[in-house]
This record gives sequence, structure tokens and C-alpha cells, in this order.
Amino acid sequence: MASSVLNNVFNVFCRDSSAYFATIGFVTASYIAFKAAFNVIKILKFLVFAGSTNFKKLGSWAVVTGSTDGIGKAYAKELAKRGVNIVLISRSEAKLQEVANEIEKESKVQTRIIVADFSKGLELYDSIRDQLAGLEIGTLVNNVGMHYPFPNYFLDVTDREELFMKLINVNVTAVTMMTSIVMPAMVERKKGAVINISSIGGLHPMPLITVYSACKAYVTFFSRCIQSEYESKGIICQCVVPHFVVTNMTMPFLVTTKRSEKRIPSLFRPSPTTYAKAALDSVGVSDFTNGYWAHSVQAAAVGMLPEGVIKMMSVGFMEKTRKANLENMSKKKE
Ligand SMILES: NC(=O)c1ccc[n+]([C@@H]2O[C@H](COP(=O)([O-])OP(=O)(O)OC[C@H]3O[C@@H](n4cnc5c(N)ncnc54)[C@H](OP(=O)(O)O)[C@@H]3O)[C@@H](O)[C@H]2O)c1
Repeated sequence: MASSVLNNVFNVFCRDSSAYFATIGFVTASYIAFKAAFNVIKILKFLVFAGSTNFKKLGSWAVVTGSTDGIGKAYAKELAKRGVNIVLISRSEAKLQEVANEIEKESKVQTRIIVADFSKGLELYDSIRDQLAGLEIGTLVNNVGMHYPFPNYFLDVTDREELFMKLINVNVTAVTMMTSIVMPAMVERKKGAVINISSIGGLHPMPLITVYSACKAYVTFFSRCIQSEYESKGIICQCVVPHFVVTNMTMPFLVTTKRSEKRIPSLFRPSPTTYAKAALDSVGVSDFTNGYWAHSVQAAAVGMLPEGVIKMMSVGFMEKTRKANLENMSKKKE
């Protein structure tokens, strides 16, 4: 008697649980298929409509922060090629003048330079506001960014409080203040593009570069909220989320890569020029983008993974990079 009851319970459980697992399997598979289809549509939309924004029509000037090197310099040059006058902002007057000369020679547009150290905080913005007054600014590229010297645990970072304040000033205060200075005239003219450079670290929490990751999460949320608030007023606010691009900033993260290969662009690690061109083509097409198709493919693949797996992979990479940087530093001391 008891054994037949147990038998019945076992049969019902098996029947019900197999239906239960089949349902979970179906829902999971549908979810993955839906996400994959959504990402494919995004990539196709990018390929079809790429390059449709006329930056000159948005305004005759573009402002690019952090524009003497890397991605910012490439954005400045590419915007100039599209016929827009350029305001370059960075710390070094000599480098600014050099880039301004290159741009004027290559693209026959006007340039202006503003010397500013964004790590200093609020004190510099009155001067920037004065120097930008009267220009018809159609595009603002909030590119300037600052990273850790190398990945490290929060409490182990050398001179951490000073470094963290600088990181916040360069990565967070600059994007907020520059948007506050430039966007009012765009809203008055009912057109303009604000392009904010975030990072993969601003989408997924990245331990060992904690403050950078948190700052970039701010940039991501800031951009998406501004887009919602001002889209109806004619403003495009685009959040750009690059993965690896070959620049000075990425060098400490490539310590485990062969020296000869570090500076060589590849499919998934493009040059700043390749990256900026593709990313500018996406303005007006997508307000939240990886900017470059191979990075979109990478992001789609990473997005399929559970957050726990992403964290594990990220910690593994950062730990390895931290160790390699520390070893290099101790070798140099010897
Ligand atoms: N490269 C990547 O793989 C990657 C990935 C994700 C996100 N990003 C983001 O992309 C943006 C550009 O990065 P990047 O790799 O092109 O950097 P980069 O090659 O190091 O160039 C940084 C630029 O910013 C300027 N700059 C740095 N600190 C500054 C400060 N305190 N005040 C004013 N200007 C300053 C530098 O010029 P001076 O030294 O002359 O001032 C230089 O022109 C950053 O927001 C970064 O977080 C980059």
C-alpha cells in the first residue's frame, strides 16, 4: 500500500517536474533568442542608417574634451573632415596647438584651443564658458577620461583619496559641467548632439577599477536620462560604450600582451581613428551604442552571460593585470 502511494507521488512529481523543466527551458531559450534577435536588429539598423547625421546642420562648431590624443583626437579630426569647426580642450597648450595645426591643414576648418585641466574641479568652468561664448556649437563630445594607473584594490591604490577625487572630476564633473554649459544654446536652437564616452566598465561593475567603473556608470545613466529629458527638444544625447581601443589609456591593461602587439590595432581592438569614424556614423541612429560593430558583437556575447560569470571573468582579468603591473614595477626598481 505504502509503496504504491510512493510510486504514485514519484510518477506525478516526474511528470510535473519534466513539464516544469520543459517550461523553464522554453522560456530561457525564447529569452535568449529574443535578445539575440534584438541585437541583430540593432546591428542591421546601424549598418543601414550609418552616417546619416549632418553635423554641419547641427551647428558650425564642435567641442571635444580630451582631444590631443586617443579617441578624442580622432573624434576631432573626423568631425573636422565632416566640415565642422573644432574647439579642442586638453591640458597641454603645445599638444593642442599641434593638433589644431594638423586639423586646419587636413580639413580647411577653423579651430580654437582651450587649455584646461579637468582634474581640478569646478574652478575652471567659468573660463571655459567665457571662451565658448558666441560660438554656434552643434556637437559636444564629452570624451575626456582618466583611468587607474593599473587595476588595484580600493585601499591599496597609492595616494588614493587624491587620485579618486581626480577620477571623479575628470570622468564625472567634466561631463556634467560641459553639458550644462553647452546644452542651453542647443535647446534654444532646437538641435544639437551631446556625445558622452562611457565604457564597458559603466555597464558591468568592474572590481579593481572600482572608482573608474562607478564614474562610467554615472556617465551611462547621465546620458540616458538627458536623452529622455531632451529628446523632444531636438537634442540627441548619445552614450558611447567602447570596449578596447588602442590608446595610451589601455597600455597598463595590455601588460600581458606581447610588447610588439600592444600598439597594433586588430578587429576587436581598433585604432582610435577606425573607432571614432564608426562611432560618429552611429550618431542619430542609436542613442546607446558600442560605437563600432565588432564591439557590438562582443557586447552582445557578454550580455548573454549571467552577471556572476561576467564578474568572475572581470576579476580574473584585473587580478592578472594587477599582478603583471606590480611585477614590472618591482623589476624596474631592481
Ligand atoms: N581606450 C579605450 O579602450 C577606452 C575604452 C573605454 C572607454 N574609454 C574612454 O574613452 C575616452 C578617451 O580615452 P582614450 O583611451 O582616448 O584616452 P587617452 O588616449 O589617454 O587620451 C586622453 C586625452 O584626454 C586628455 N586629458 C587627460 N587628462 C586630462 C585632464 N585632466 N584635463 C584635460 N584633458 C585631459 C589628454 O590630453 P593631455 O594629456 O594633453 O591633457 C588626451 O588628449 C575616455 O573617457 C575613456 O574612459 C576608452
